[in-house]
Amino acid sequence: DDDLVVLGIETSCDDTAAAIVRGNGEILSQVVSSQADLLARYGGVAPKMAEEAHSQVIDQVVQDALDKASLTERELSAVAVTIGPGLSLCLRVGVQKARRVAGSFNLPIISVHHMEAHALVARLIEKELQFPFLALLISGGHNLLVLAHHLGHYTQLGTTIDDAIGEAFDKTAKWLGLDMRKSGGPAVEQLAQEGDAESVRFSIPMKQHKDCNFSYAGLKTQVKLAIASRNIDAKVPLSCASSLDRSSRADIAASFQRVAVLHLEERCERAVEWALKIEPSIKHLVVSGGVASNQYIRSRLDQVVQKYSLQLVCPPPNLCTDNGVMIAWTGIENFRAGRYDSPPPTNDPDDFM
Ligand code: KG4
Ligand code: ZN
Repeated sequence: DDDLVVLGIETSCDDTAAAIVRGNGEILSQVVSSQADLLARYGGVAPKMAEEAHSQVIDQVVQDALDKASLTERELSAVAVTIGPGLSLCLRVGVQKARRVAGSFNLPIISVHHMEAHALVARLIEKELQFPFLALLISGGHNLLVLAHHLGHYTQLGTTIDDAIGEAFDKTAKWLGLDMRKSGGPAVEQLAQEGDAESVRFSIPMKQHKDCNFSYAGLKTQVKLAIASRNIDAKVPLSCASSLDRSSRADIAASFQRVAVLHLEERCERAVEWALKIEPSIKHLVVSGGVASNQYIRSRLDQVVQKYSLQLVCPPPNLCTDNGVMIAWTGIENFRAGRYDSPPPTNDPDDFM
């Protein structure tokens, strides 16, 4: 089993990623090519542009992953690739690459669900983590609470009815004039450390809905109004602003983060209670997806799970944001369960789609 060596390819959104992982969980290589520069310049992901960016770098990213692992394609056991959810134009770049490699070297191909991979990568870093477990998956596009019964079998306890928390972090960063060269979340988290989290009274979303769903569109609007009423001009970047301006921006960042996370805490508490009724043996809450890199979120959710004597499992930040390791690892789990396809024909018609 440890002899398995799987290449994982991820192109569902704005990062082109590849990694090679061994059956025992050893990460042999990990490469991510980010479109962050493009995003900062154009203020968001445009599918056609993202597709071109993936196409330009995909061969190199996979080659780098092989080189860093000192392997050739011949030494691989299988190729795993994200098939969704995501931008279809972008997904196709990864799928076609995976099929070319698998076809040329006669390798099985494993289709991976992006959100399942965000959850299962926690099993690579925490060997004690057994099914069933509860998972909170938080990223730019998703906000999910799922009960993982076993591989490929999940119950969705809650999702967002509008925006995901990462989207709210990104817009808050933009409106506050923070440095968007990386994603907005880390910039907000950093500035929030200087602010007073009680200074701006944002209301917690969906208090009256006693379920596990999320909503971040209203909080986004509250932030926008708070910024407008303080006459903060996002076109004047934070670095140039007067100290007074900086402190009121920090107050907004801190107050936003506190309420955004209170919403997560409340939903997680309810989800733990629901989950324990369905699967009384759960021992872990997995928190993964890009937003799970946030240290404040980790510490607050750690307190929530302690009340129920559960353990929080949070992958390191480079495995929380989109990456190839989680795809390779989920590929390994599926491969072991016999869930893979035979090698595609070398003259793959998909290549000419
Ligand atoms: O999982 P991911 O890399 O891509 C998606 O599938 O969306 O998540 C990206 C999201 C972005 O919205 C980014 O701002 C957010 O994760 N993020 C953070 C932090 N690091 C990344 N949000 C809050 N605090 C952070 N430290
Ligand atoms: Zn993701």
